[in-house]
Amino acid sequence: MVELSPLRQDFVWGTATSAYQIEGAIDADGRLPSIWDTFCRVPGAIDNGDTGDVACDSYHRWRDDIDLLKQLGVDAYRFSIAWPRVIPAGSGAVNAAGLDYYDRLVDGLLAEGIKPFVTLYHWDLPQALQDLGGWENRDTAYRFSEYAAVVGAKLGDRVRDWATLNEPLCSAWIGHWEGRMAPGITDPAIAVRASYNLLLAHGLGVAALRESSPEPASIGLVVNLSGIEPASDSAADIRAAQIADGHINRWWLDPVFGRGFPADMVQTYGVELPEQPGDAEIIAAPTDFVGLNYYFRQIVKADESVPLLGFSQVPGPNAEHTMLDWEVHPAGLEELILRLAKEYGAEKIYITENGSAWVDEPDASFAVDDPQRTAYLEGHLAACVRAVQQGAPLAGYFAWSLMDNFEWAYGYAPRFGLSYVDYPTGTRVMKTSGKTYANLIKSHRAL
Ligand code: IFM
Repeated sequence: MVELSPLRQDFVWGTATSAYQIEGAIDADGRLPSIWDTFCRVPGAIDNGDTGDVACDSYHRWRDDIDLLKQLGVDAYRFSIAWPRVIPAGSGAVNAAGLDYYDRLVDGLLAEGIKPFVTLYHWDLPQALQDLGGWENRDTAYRFSEYAAVVGAKLGDRVRDWATLNEPLCSAWIGHWEGRMAPGITDPAIAVRASYNLLLAHGLGVAALRESSPEPASIGLVVNLSGIEPASDSAADIRAAQIADGHINRWWLDPVFGRGFPADMVQTYGVELPEQPGDAEIIAAPTDFVGLNYYFRQIVKADESVPLLGFSQVPGPNAEHTMLDWEVHPAGLEELILRLAKEYGAEKIYITENGSAWVDEPDASFAVDDPQRTAYLEGHLAACVRAVQQGAPLAGYFAWSLMDNFEWAYGYAPRFGLSYVDYPTGTRVMKTSGKTYANLIKSHRAL
């Protein structure tokens, strides 16, 4: 059992999901397509031809999800709101029926004493906005702030904890540079402009939430970071690691912490930023916490075959890798928490996601034993504890994920859940890792 006593008494224990990965019901009650509905229909884009059409059917089975949260005994549930349910065309008419779904979910959570932590954007841009240029178009940032204001006004009397965007790196780099995620673009210049407009949207969203919410709001940006290490001590590999760190970490952290976009990366990308006066201040709007999503570190070598960036990843030396071939390296989480605190001066940090995918098989009695996920969870919680012992202001931990769900381009094969979802029936069952998490939470509360 992990020794949790160094964690603060009001440490927030939670789990996380996102709308497109769990909700299904893609055309219910006025929802219109998002870029992910479109991308899922591109032949070959998603493993096995999977889509989010049904997913965990949480749009209809949200009470089952709350039952799982109760079994875990968590304090909080981090979920995202689907913009295409709330403002289906991306701008203009608000769809009351779509918003009501989240109203019911929030009330249902609060009735069980579970705090809603709401993410406004977890990658499901309304397709209508993509048709106008998507994140490459500066207007999308303003449409986002209008959407944030609508949601803040409706739920802000009960929701106190908000994230603007989830992992803008994935939206920008994987969606617009590598093309492995929606909208499937492979153009670095577009990706850089998209990254800029995403961060602008974050800043505008912070202001919109503060203004629209009837109650004080705690707001942050959720970033996915990786510790970066050079593959060798050659000058080329060390330089490659600096660029990788710029691309993966500093590009996102520096501007929101008021340092502006890193000059070495602007030069590396060779793309003029679509800056307008006042943008830097908007992007650096004061926030209340940083959300850190952590999965793996990256060891990189110089690689001239990679255009612009000149680095590529090499396999990590740890014996254990998850089903997605991600190296299990808990120390990387400890290092990132400390870096946020020491180098960036973060005053409050939540681990907003952390988890691992494995091949899970229920036994004859439909029980799922998942020792590797359980060990991953314990190992990473121990890393959190070590960071706290060194003074880091860590306020909570959200396991990814409450349940198995649609893992984007990988479809349904990778299972990240603390609970197992039998997709043909929608039945959920708590795995051993979930039971272990429940016991850990209980033990911390008992201190
Ligand atoms: O499933 C994703 C989630 O949507 C964003 N963070 C990483 C998770 C695992 O890949």
